[in-house]
This record gives sequence, structure tokens and C-alpha cells, in this order.
Amino acid sequence: MVKVIVPESDERHLAEAVAQLKACSTVAVLTGAGISVESGIPDFRSPGGLWTFFSPEEYATLDVFERDPAKAWMLYRALGQSLNEVEPNAAHGALARLEEAGSVGMVVTQNVDGLHQAAGSRKVIEMHGDHQHLQCIRCGWLGPVLASHLDGDEVPLCAECFEPVKPNVVLFGEAVRGMDEIAPFMERCEVLLVVGTSAQVYPAAGLPALVQSRGGLIYEFNLEETALTRRSAHTDFFFRGKATVTVPLLVDRFLEK
Ligand code: APR
Repeated sequence: MVKVIVPESDERHLAEAVAQLKACSTVAVLTGAGISVESGIPDFRSPGGLWTFFSPEEYATLDVFERDPAKAWMLYRALGQSLNEVEPNAAHGALARLEEAGSVGMVVTQNVDGLHQAAGSRKVIEMHGDHQHLQCIRCGWLGPVLASHLDGDEVPLCAECFEPVKPNVVLFGEAVRGMDEIAPFMERCEVLLVVGTSAQVYPAAGLPALVQSRGGLIYEFNLEETALTRRSAHTDFFFRGKATVTVPLLVDRFLEK
């Protein structure tokens, strides 16, 4: 049975969630685009999200980049511009404070915005890569994404082999990063905090089930119920509301003396 926590109304469940978290020593975090919405970056699947303008099948696959890099760059520019001059918010900050206190062992993020690191989190694994670098999939060259790459309409070329390059993000059809580190940690993780993801894209969406299958607890933070809460009932505590409110709510209470 999912225990729902709405800020300022569910003291009993909040106290229970804090107590359970205090009793655990191995805690991980999984984040998605929702954690950065209040930093001004739209998510993918909500109304107004990036996928409502660019269908992922049409723009975000490896195949599209290889066949028509100019078309794929229309998406990369829109994504890159949405990440321009953004700052971490109170949810990123709260997770960094939890890690600083020694209570988070790993932050796995599907986001490519670098905001966990900007907030001070150190053990961050970017499953879907990052949008601060360009990547050549032919020779492996990496270089910085510059404002001119986002403003212009030329496809940037590799500095080494002169092939078209893409941002260092994982496209549909590419393998995610870091699973060799992520999977063993999830297998021994006692609590997974899942923040702002619709849990529709695998393998990230499968991590809560992995944690739960080993007896771990799932704390979910979202505006609305997701596949985790609804279909498969993986969630133990559901914090309903904006991540900038709900994540600090848990963390502040946990860190209180
Ligand atoms: N606070 C909490 N949750 C929020 C907020 C907020 N302020 N705003 C939105 N959300 C929730 C939405 O309700 C939704 O469940 O965040 C979730 C965002 O879901 P998606 O847009 O599907 O983003 P995400 O789950 O990160 O997508 C996963 O899909 O297309 C790929 O590579 C892309 O990394 C991305 C992956």
C-alpha cells in the first residue's frame, strides 16, 4: 500500500518515512527531468515538454543522427538552449546536503543538465550523458558545446576526424552509461529516492523494481502518480507536489538534530 505524503498534511507518514530512512545505511537517488522543471527546464512528456514539439522517434535516435545530422541538430539546439544559464534549485540542493551528511551513496540521473554537480553532489552518474560536451561517435573525440553550436545552423564537425558530431547525450538506440556501477549499488540499496521521472524509459525505469526485489524501499517524489505508483506499485512513500517543496521536506526533517 502506497503511503501518500502531501506537504503540511501527512505528519504521521512523513515521520515514518524519516524513521525508515534513518534506519538505513545505503541510500541512492534516481532523478529525471521533473527535478529540473523548477530551474526553468521543461521536461519531456508533460504538456509543453520537449517531446510534444519533437517526436523522439523522428529526432532523437542514433539512426536519425547518422542519416540526417542536420535534422537531429534541430532537437539538440532546442535542448541546449533550454539548458542555457540555468541554476540548481532547492531539490538539487537538498540532495547535495543529504550526500554531504554521508547519507547518499550515489545519485543516478537521467538528466543531461549538470545541475546535481552544480548544487554540490559529487557521486553523480549521468546515465544519459551530458549536454556540455560534443562527442564524435567515430573516433571518441570530446569537446565543449559552445554558444555558436546552438545559435548557428551548421552541423559541428569533429576536430580530429571531421565527421559530424552530436552532443554527448545518449540517443535512443545507444547504450546508457554507468550500468556496471549502478546495478551492483542498486542491488544492495536499502532506500531509493526517485525524483521527477515518469519511469517510462528503460533501464532507468527498471531500477526501482531491482531495489524492491532485494527488500529496499522506494520513496517517490512527483506532481502526479506514475507507472511506479500506479501499475506496478513499487512505491512505498509517495511525496506528492513540486520537488522543490517535497525533497527539502524530507531532507530537512531527516537532518534535524
Ligand atoms: N516536481 C516533481 N515532479 C515533476 C515536476 C516538479 N516540479 N515537474 C514535472 N514532474 C514530473 C512529471 O509529472 C513527470 O512524471 O517529472 C516527470 C518527468 O517525466 P519525463 O518528461 O518523462 O522525463 P524523464 O522521466 O526524465 O524522461 C526519461 O526519457 O526521453 C528520454 O532521455 C530522455 O532522460 C529522458 C528520459
